[in-house]
Amino acid sequence: MAYIWPKVGLLLLSGLLSVYCQNPGSPQPVPVNGTDVVNASEFAVQEFNDKYNKDDYIVLQMEILNATQQVVSGLMYYLEVAIQCTYCKKREPINSACTSCNGQKVCHFQVWEQAWLDSIELVKADCPSDWS
Ligand SMILES: *[C@@H]1O[C@H](CO)[C@@H](O)[C@H](O)[C@H]1NC(C)=O
Ligand SMILES: *[C@@H]1O[C@H](CO)[C@@H](O)[C@H](O)[C@H]1NC(C)=O
Ligand SMILES: *[C@@H]1O[C@H](CO)[C@@H](O)[C@H](O)[C@H]1NC(C)=O
Repeated sequence: MAYIWPKVGLLLLSGLLSVYCQNPGSPQPVPVNGTDVVNASEFAVQEFNDKYNKDDYIVLQMEILNATQQVVSGLMYYLEVAIQCTYCKKREPINSACTSCNGQKVCHFQVWEQAWLDSIELVKADCPSDWS
């Protein structure tokens, strides 16, 4: 019987290694047009307007420039997003006038999604203070 144990040990070891390598995973680049990335960015910009943006005016997303994703008790998205300023005040309807402001900047958002808990959170928002 004893001769099977080395094999079992090896299986256990490789099992442990693969768990170790996946959890938490290293950040992986993901397509910027993926449904979940687009959704996470939409959420990030909305939360940014609600909680971080001290201006009277909302910002809108222009383009998702880069996205990476990491497995950490759910999924962590690291998003690089170009946003533009608008002339639309918070809680006013979003219409064509919202896009007529020229300023733009690139923000870094970190969004943590735990789908099975129905939880999504803007963990970090890093935006330069000045528009360019
Ligand atoms: C994302 O963009 C690539 C390249 O433009 C395209 O091939 C792919 O179908 C797009 N995926 C989605 C989900 O739109
Ligand atoms: C998109 O994000 C919202 C939160 O803004 C979340 O409730 C919803 O489940 C997400 N949908 C998908 C398809 O990921
Ligand atoms: C996206 O961001 C990652 C992590 O910051 C970086 O390694 C990668 O080069 C970026 N990709 C592009 C296309 O900018």
